[in-house]
Amino acid sequence: MAISRPRSRGVPLIPLLLLILLAPLIYSVSRLRLSWAPERELGMPPPALPKRPDRLVLGPAAGQGRPDRLQCQGLKAVNKISLSSEPGEHVSFVTVFTTYSSDPAGAGKRSSDVVTVGKHFYSKEERSMAILNTFISFIQVSMPKSNVIILTDPKSKLSINQGKASILPIEGNYSRGNLMLQRIKSYIAFLELKLEEVDRVNCVVFTDSDMAVVEDLGHIFTSYPHWHLALTFRNNKGQPLNSGFVAVRGTRDGISKAIDFFNEVLKAYNLKYMKASRMLGDQLALAWVVKSYLPSAFGKFSRHETFTGEVNGASVLFLPCEVYNWTPPEGAGQFHGMPLDVKVVHFKGSRKRLMLEAWDFYNSTSQLSDMLCLILKSGRTKYDF
Ligand SMILES: *[C@@H]1O[C@H](CO)[C@@H](O)[C@H](O)[C@H]1NC(C)=O
Ligand SMILES: *[C@@H]1O[C@H](CO)[C@@H](O)[C@H](O)[C@H]1NC(C)=O
Repeated sequence: MAISRPRSRGVPLIPLLLLILLAPLIYSVSRLRLSWAPERELGMPPPALPKRPDRLVLGPAAGQGRPDRLQCQGLKAVNKISLSSEPGEHVSFVTVFTTYSSDPAGAGKRSSDVVTVGKHFYSKEERSMAILNTFISFIQVSMPKSNVIILTDPKSKLSINQGKASILPIEGNYSRGNLMLQRIKSYIAFLELKLEEVDRVNCVVFTDSDMAVVEDLGHIFTSYPHWHLALTFRNNKGQPLNSGFVAVRGTRDGISKAIDFFNEVLKAYNLKYMKASRMLGDQLALAWVVKSYLPSAFGKFSRHETFTGEVNGASVLFLPCEVYNWTPPEGAGQFHGMPLDVKVVHFKGSRKRLMLEAWDFYNSTSQLSDMLCLILKSGRTKYDF
C-alpha cells in the first residue's frame, strides 16, 4: 500500500515572485526570436513541430557512380535487371496484425486524420489496413506462389479480400503496450500448430507488415541448406538484430528449434526488457539471446556478409539487413545508396506513406526497378505517417 507523505501545500513564494517580475522579459524575448525567423508571422502562436510532408518528396539518388548500387536517371533504373519469371518457392509469410477501435471521443473520421495517397483517402484505421494490403500485394507480385498468414486477435475485425492471404486468430493480449511480447507468443503458437501438421510445411518468414518484398526470397532456403532459422543483422551496436524479419525452415527440426529459440527470446524479454520502450524490447531480447550463445557473431555484423552460427542448438543463418531488410538511413549519416540485390524494403518509422506511394507508382507503371528509384530518392524523408 502506498502511504502518502504530507506535503507542504503552500505556493513557494520566491519563484512565483520571480516569475511575475520576469514574465514581460520572457515574453519579449520570445517575440524577438519570432521576428528573427522570416517565415513566421509575428503574433502567430509559436508553431509546434515542423509539419512533415503529406506528399511524395524526391531528393537526389545516393550511390550514383557505384557499380554495386542502383543507378537512376530520374525515376528510371538503368542497371537493375527486372524480376526473374521463374515461379519461385512456396513460402508462407506470417505477420501479426491487429486493429484498435478508435477512441470513442473521436468516433467517425476526423478530417485532420484523413490522408491522401494518389487517388485514395485514408483514415487512421484505413491507413494501417492499406499498409497490410500493400504488403500482401507486393508478395503476390514478387513471390506469386507464396501465401500470407495474418495472426491476429480473435477480437479484431479484420477483413482481407486478397486471394493468397488468410487470417488466423490466436488468443492473447494484443494491447499496444503488450504487442511486441504478444507477437513472439503468437509466433510460437503458430509454429506449435505447424508442428502438429503431418504434411510438409512451407518455409516460413515472419515479417513486419510495413515491408515490401521486391524479389524472390526462395533462394535463402535452397542456396544455404543447413540452417534452422534466419535473422537479419546490421552494423548497429545498440540494435544489431532487427526483429522485423525471421525465417524458419519448414521441417520438423527447423520448427522445433525455432520454437525453442523464440522461447528463449521470450524469457529474456520477460526477465530483462519489460521496461524497455514497447517497440524495442523484442529486438534487445533477440540480441541478448544471440550474444549469450554466440558472442562471436557480434564481430561479424560490420561486414555485410551472410554467415551461419549455432545458437542454443539451432543453426542460425545471419543475413545482412542491407539486402533482406533494407531501410535508408535516417538523418545525416552516410548513405551509399541502394544495393543492387536488395530484396526486402522496410518502411520503418515515418515512411509508411512512402510504402503506399511506392505501390501506387508500381501499380501505374508495372516497373518494380523504377519504383526502387522512387524509394531511393525519397527514403530519407520523414513523412506524415
Ligand atoms: C494486457 O497488457 C497490458 C500492457 O502490458 C496490461 O496493462 C493489461 O492489463 C493486459 N490485459 C490483460 C487482459 O491481461
Ligand atoms: C493496379 O490496380 C488495379 C486495381 O486495383 C489492378 O486491376 C491492376 O492490375 C493493378 N496494376 C498492377 C500493375 O498491379
